[in-house]
Amino acid sequence: GKDGYRHFMEKELHEHPLVIGQTLQRMVDPASRRVFLPDMPFDLATVPRAVITACGSAFYAGMVGRYWLEAIARLPVDIDVASEMRYRNPPLTEGSLGLLISQSGETADTLAALRSLRQKAIHILSVLNVEHSTMARESDSVLGTVAGPEISVASTKAFTAQLTVLACLTIATARARGMLDALAEEELVAALLDLPSRAAEVFTQGAAIRRLAGVVAEARDVLYLGRGSMFPIAMEGALKLKEISYIHAEAYAAGEMKHGPISLIDRTVPIVASVPYTPLFDKTLSNLQEAKARGGRLLVFTDTKGADRVSAIAEDMVVLPHVHDFVAPILQTIPVQMLAYEVAVLKGTDVDQPRNLAKSVTVE
Ligand code: BG6
Repeated sequence: GKDGYRHFMEKELHEHPLVIGQTLQRMVDPASRRVFLPDMPFDLATVPRAVITACGSAFYAGMVGRYWLEAIARLPVDIDVASEMRYRNPPLTEGSLGLLISQSGETADTLAALRSLRQKAIHILSVLNVEHSTMARESDSVLGTVAGPEISVASTKAFTAQLTVLACLTIATARARGMLDALAEEELVAALLDLPSRAAEVFTQGAAIRRLAGVVAEARDVLYLGRGSMFPIAMEGALKLKEISYIHAEAYAAGEMKHGPISLIDRTVPIVASVPYTPLFDKTLSNLQEAKARGGRLLVFTDTKGADRVSAIAEDMVVLPHVHDFVAPILQTIPVQMLAYEVAVLKGTDVDQPRNLAKSVTVE
């Protein structure tokens, strides 16, 4: 049942801290602060390239994965949505790593992409929530997300669990490739281990998130902005809003806004920005200044370290706990999903069963 929550989505949102912790327990030794992945029939030290493919929210998790694998593990990564990857026929070096991400393990587009990668002698590593799924059977290796059953059509906890797995995979890959010494690994692992308690603190911000929801619910169009690993989180926020509140939302890399969508900005198009205090904080803030100068209403998710500077320009903001840059996209996912949820509640839509959508799409 819903355990007293209004919808399965609300219940599942509240499970973020738990599933991040459970997923970490599978892969992290807290005593040594090291990541241990199961044995896999390929060597992360020598794979020439990774090809990431998925659909929907899982694709955005993959985009964060690309950011981490390239920046931290120095592994070249190609990424595309599964329905495109399959037909692009990209040139692939034999022995590359195909990284498939899916909550259900049954999504037809992702499964078809998996099969086409397999034909090219690509190692198949899947990040899956349903461990006895078709994709699980057809993969060389599976890294499980320990999110439990996800009932709400819009993905919530499975997404942060996917990010948690990808973070651990990044650490293991970086170590294997000589990009991470023991001290640096301990620092990243400590940041991950800190997440369940920081994630739990996000729920103290419910009133602030509902305030933002009041503004967003009145809009016809909403622009979501973020940079770096926060760009896919903006995309996740925009997708969630579209899916369950039926409000049109677009996500842009904050720096790209001036090359087009800035022409849309006026008082009627709220801007939701994810701007924790990371090395991209200043750059993102100056992009937000540009939007504000054109009459944009800034609704900003930041953290305790960014709050002072954000408050100087934002119409409203939500202040989240400050965490290590590496894990900031995981933490910042929770409030953007909560925002979409609260907007849908205000709109009175069928939150758990949005029109035209299915939990698992088994046709291509
Ligand atoms: C969709 C769902 O169509 O499939 C999304 O509506 C989901 O929420 C996407 O992210 C991918 O599903 P899966 O099971 O492959 O992660």
